[in-house]
Amino acid sequence: MINQPQENSLQHIAFIMDGNGRWAKKRGMPREYGHTVGAKVFRRVAEYCFRQGIGTVTIYAFSTENWKRPQKEVNAIMDIFKNYLKMGLSEMTEDNIRIRFLGEKTPFAPDVRATMEKIERKSSANKYNLNVAVNYGGRAELVQAVNRLMQSGVTHVDEAALSNAIDTSGQPDPDLIVRTGGEMRLSNFLMWQSVYSELYFTDVLWPDFTDSDVDAAIAEFHARNRRFGGV
Ligand code: IPE
Ligand code: IPE
Ligand code: MG
Repeated sequence: MINQPQENSLQHIAFIMDGNGRWAKKRGMPREYGHTVGAKVFRRVAEYCFRQGIGTVTIYAFSTENWKRPQKEVNAIMDIFKNYLKMGLSEMTEDNIRIRFLGEKTPFAPDVRATMEKIERKSSANKYNLNVAVNYGGRAELVQAVNRLMQSGVTHVDEAALSNAIDTSGQPDPDLIVRTGGEMRLSNFLMWQSVYSELYFTDVLWPDFTDSDVDAAIAEFHARNRRFGGV
């Protein structure tokens, strides 16, 4: 099934949380410190969106390209992620939040993968949908979906079949994509799902991002005129 977005209804908001490193540098701190603070903001923002009645929130936490960063920074991000799995994300499942990870889990250590799968399983009947994109890339997601379909013997696909084979299967496409940190690009995020997303860019660095910044993005979304190719 294709989840065509509806005009004016904000069912799914996605965030590219960018600017952690610059935020820390501005304070004379190592980039890793920005990621630690950014992880806390992540939870507050997601929970705020759910309180605003938005059913699905996606957060881009680590891209397939982010492995290119210096080993020290990658290790620090992975440590933060591991702690976060045990604390923040596990706690969120108790607040009726269903957590799913977008991206290929194979590069993660077996114990980390097992925890990710356990969180997904444990929260699968919860109401609010939180997607955490880690080791996520829009191109990798599509390639993997095509390979999966071929392995199942499929010789012809249509848009619905591909939509069902990707990591966000069954979920609405993002109505609004918010990127903090001032860059105006998607950086390999949700390339299939974003075709009709409204894009919102702000210079605010992710660790500074507040609930009222979320309100500003939502207000801008409601002021847009979505036509989906029509008139
Ligand atoms: C976003 O912040 C978090 C990740 C990509 C993991 P950055 O680390 O990209 O921060 P800047 O853009 O360098 O400031
Ligand atoms: C995009 O941010 C990825 C995430 C936020 C996880 P980057 O900082 O990696 O993007 P570029 O390098 O500026 O495109
Ligand atoms: Mg960045």
